[in-house]
Amino acid sequence: MTTGKMELNTPRGLVVFEGPVTDRYIEGLTMNEGLTNFRLPDQQQKALMTITNLPDGMIFLARHKQEIIAYVTFHHPDEFSRWSKHPRVLEMGGIEVSPSWRGCRIGENLLKLAFSHPRVEDFIVITTEYCWHWDMKRTGLDVWAYQKMLTKLFGRVGLQKVTTDDPDILEHPANVLMARTGRNVGKEDILLFEEMRFMGKFGRAVNMS
Ligand SMILES: CC(C)(COP(=O)(O)OP(=O)(O)OC[C@H]1O[C@@H](n2cnc3c(N)ncnc32)[C@H](O)[C@@H]1OP(=O)(O)O)[C@@H](O)C(=O)NCCC(=O)NCCS
Repeated sequence: MTTGKMELNTPRGLVVFEGPVTDRYIEGLTMNEGLTNFRLPDQQQKALMTITNLPDGMIFLARHKQEIIAYVTFHHPDEFSRWSKHPRVLEMGGIEVSPSWRGCRIGENLLKLAFSHPRVEDFIVITTEYCWHWDMKRTGLDVWAYQKMLTKLFGRVGLQKVTTDDPDILEHPANVLMARTGRNVGKEDILLFEEMRFMGKFGRAVNMS
């Protein structure tokens, strides 16, 4: 798979962005101790390694010297979610920048690198933004300001807010589904995605057998 690389000079030093990276590459680096938003850093490192071996799984990371300071993940949607029934949906699972590196445009550049990868053009990339994953404590933002910050950030790489009756999204009014349709996605797959956004309580709108 093609890999991309770029560099950014920040007030804290040179940051290298690269990916998709392999599990062995991730294993050879250390995790910044602040990467605790989703799991403890060593558990998250293992989770990142696992994702690299999933079909269409991709990890892009930002590192300072040999330390991972941020990452973004791509994988097929969880099998229990409605989106997993769509053949061309890829989920951007999580993006995390270590708190001590935030505000240095690392999130933005990491996304730019990831979304410049040709594989992304073959998919409708979605992100299911659940507010219980957001770091409101350390950013000092309330739930609505946080949602605005994320949707603006993700909007920079072409992700747009889309409506849905997915119960997980409806569970909190600040939750949001965003999607970006890649250049190589066919009309039928686009239509199927449109239909799947509203499936009703029993998911009758689409016959997926
Ligand atoms: C969301 C997150 C990835 C942003 O990373 P970052 O490297 O700090 O973001 P950047 O420096 O690239 O900034 C991108 C934009 O977000 C804004 N932003 C970032 N943090 C902000 C904050 N605490 N308050 C206000 N705006 C903020 C920046 O001002 C910038 O907007 P601008 O271009 O209009 O100036 C980071 O806060 C994070 O890891 N949060 C915890 C995990 C999370 O919530 N992930 C998303 C859900 S999976």
